[in-house]
Amino acid sequence: MRELSMMTEGLGLTRERLLEVDVHVRPGDALRALREEALAGLCTRPKELSPKWLYDERGSQLFDDITRLPEYYPTRREREILEAHAGEIARISGADTLIELGSGTSEKTRLLLNAFQAEGLRRFVPFDVSEAFLRDAAAKLACEYPGLQVHAVVGDFERHLGFLPRSGQRMVAFLGGTIGNFKPAQRAHFFREVADGLAIGECLLLGTDLIKCRQRLFAAYNDSAGVTAEFNRNVLRVLNRELGANFDVEAFEHLAPFDEANGWIEMQLISQREQVVRLAALGRSVNFARGEVLRTEVSCKFRPEQVEAELAEAGLHLSEWWTDAAGDFALSLSFKR
Ligand code: AVJ
Repeated sequence: MRELSMMTEGLGLTRERLLEVDVHVRPGDALRALREEALAGLCTRPKELSPKWLYDERGSQLFDDITRLPEYYPTRREREILEAHAGEIARISGADTLIELGSGTSEKTRLLLNAFQAEGLRRFVPFDVSEAFLRDAAAKLACEYPGLQVHAVVGDFERHLGFLPRSGQRMVAFLGGTIGNFKPAQRAHFFREVADGLAIGECLLLGTDLIKCRQRLFAAYNDSAGVTAEFNRNVLRVLNRELGANFDVEAFEHLAPFDEANGWIEMQLISQREQVVRLAALGRSVNFARGEVLRTEVSCKFRPEQVEAELAEAGLHLSEWWTDAAGDFALSLSFKR
């Protein structure tokens, strides 16, 4: 499914903007997936949902608020690294095609685009699961960067990486520490898929949050203003709306402990009492014991050697490693060999 739109601007300055959108997910796909996941994840023990359901409109807004919290350092640290090294990244990558998995309108995207443009960027490929969001973002970028080909791909990066455009010399960027949402097996699979999709000499720019003292990790996911708690509980509102559920949102408490053995923060919703929740769309009810945990996200934290080893295992060889001044967060550039 491909759509080619060429728009011309008036005022005597005729400018051609090239904008293409490939769509690999249809509107009903998300709801079907949520139904399946709710059946598998809520009707069994331990209860778990994947973090993708946190990001409806309100959830995306809440996450945006999180990125500005004093305790939540990853976004600021990654931006600091990009501000210092985007030029170097563009140069070393040798890429004329930038593919960004997730995001697309962020300030970070623009930092990268500006640096890559100075190095002869030809094409930007924003990849995101939300069609409406992506169309909007792609159109804005096509406007802002005349002459740049914008080829948006609507897809799920666990299923549609095989559909990335193949032309040009490409760099795939996966920023924000979103890789941390994958558990080890999923992560290995993801690295493989990325590596398999790349030609020799093409590269991956990856943002990873690093292991640090527990207190700072804990504070980042249990902020004093309670924004992360709202973000977490919002998934229950999503279930209420999408699955006709009747969660009492206030009957669940947010906690995000650091699991030392797994090296991840996990977000939990803890049932404050024994309760039965009806999921009308599934024709099911779910029991929660008092104190029972519903896990809504893992956010893995990494050691540098671990990142290098996992990438190498997939055939991606680490070339560059940048951190912020405090050593909180890392960007790595690795090449397919
Ligand atoms: C968007 C996945 C990078 O794991 O830090 C923020 C999401 N969860 N606070 C992260 C999140 C709780 C965030 N990522």
